[in-house]
Amino acid sequence: MSVQNPIKRVTVRELTERSRQGGRFACLTAYDASMAAILDDNGIDIVLVGDSLGNVVQGHETTLPVTLDDMVYHTACVARGCRRALIMADMPFMADADPHMALLSAARLMREGAHIVKIEGGKPLAEAIALLTRRGIPVCAHIGLKPQSVHKIGGYRVQGRDRAGMDAILDDAWAVIEAGADMLLLECVTSELAEEIVSAVKVPVIGIGAGAACQGQVLVIYDMLGVTPGPHPRFYRNFLEEGGSIQGAVKAYADAVVSGRYPSREQSYADT
Ligand code: KIV
Repeated sequence: MSVQNPIKRVTVRELTERSRQGGRFACLTAYDASMAAILDDNGIDIVLVGDSLGNVVQGHETTLPVTLDDMVYHTACVARGCRRALIMADMPFMADADPHMALLSAARLMREGAHIVKIEGGKPLAEAIALLTRRGIPVCAHIGLKPQSVHKIGGYRVQGRDRAGMDAILDDAWAVIEAGADMLLLECVTSELAEEIVSAVKVPVIGIGAGAACQGQVLVIYDMLGVTPGPHPRFYRNFLEEGGSIQGAVKAYADAVVSGRYPSREQSYADT
């Protein structure tokens, strides 16, 4: 006997179509079934099981200590809470150290209920992305600020401010698109650079601190609920204050994203 989900699941294909027609979509992180169910019921199209759980759930300073077992566990929890939203699971630090390892890591996440995996990295990950997508696993490539590279970058800061930095991010974008990435996630880049990438690629682009041109927006759930202590980045907005409840906050965020009211210019980074 097969048990059917009576609710229509959001798909990568549908989000791609919606983005091409000028539509927008909202994404938030969740790490457990109860929160995932709230997002699922209140207008969130993508629930990201982010390795930010290393910071906000486990209390680490960075995402580097998060293991594949951690991600598998939290992906399974989130999958049990979602009936409609697309579930995106993060590949943790070095779970994609080589293409074969990336394939096996992604397979574990997909088996637990992920519908797409997010890989942090551009050009050096192109071979892994090509292998996964050839084997039927959708991939979102996370470029711009890559928190797993924080020690190399020397802190969490806006990327691509100078010509060389901009060219490196553009190179990353073309390489992952050529490798078959189904979505891009741009973190902490200027609105101008994000606009250039969004207008050049045919896949949906999700932004966090990347301005309003991105068709999708994502935030860490504890940030948008005002749980995480400051100082906060420019794109921070406490939706609990305006929503009045967790459900209200999620709905307010989804409405603000879909209508184009979030992020504003003040919540974005400019070239100058
Ligand atoms: O891990 C995460 O939550 C993320 C978002 C901040 C984009 O990658």
